[in-house]
Amino acid sequence: MFTAGIITASDKGSLGEREDISGETIRKILEKSDFKVVKYSLLPDDRELLSKKMIEMSNENIELIVTTGGTGFSKRDITPEATKDVIERETPGISEAMRSYSLNITKRAMLSRAVSGIRKNSLIVNLPGSPKAVDETLTYIIDTLKHGLEILKGDASECARK
Ligand code: MTE
Repeated sequence: MFTAGIITASDKGSLGEREDISGETIRKILEKSDFKVVKYSLLPDDRELLSKKMIEMSNENIELIVTTGGTGFSKRDITPEATKDVIERETPGISEAMRSYSLNITKRAMLSRAVSGIRKNSLIVNLPGSPKAVDETLTYIIDTLKHGLEILKGDASECARK
């Protein structure tokens, strides 16, 4: 079992003007996949607040930190920049895989600027904001993420394919 943290970036959500269905969707998918969600945070689209929260969760050694929202083109969308501020090593394959898979569902997948990467013992993954997009992308990557986390943790020394 791995630990997980969820960060929802949403100006409206943080003001109580919108229910955080995407955050709940992430929680359900993670719990179904044997993750223990130990932290959850709903924040405005603010670069510093978002990066501080990612650092806080990673300092607590939370193994997977999933963000939702703020990956698009709107002026306030800043989650990828906040993520790049804190990661030490990028994991572009994860974000590429999500976009590539999602393009079979909607061409608008190309509008997500989501990134992902490793900070200390944590893997940080951006997902787009809508509940539908969260469901599609996280469900697609979750099993492979677990294998990556095992390697990061040192439980799997090599990437042997089954
Ligand atoms: N990816 C999937 N799988 N399904 C979707 O519906 N929506 C796209 C894209 N990625 C979508 C998706 C849309 S419409 C946008 S604008 C971008 O994600 C960015 O979303 P965000 O700004 O809510 O993060």
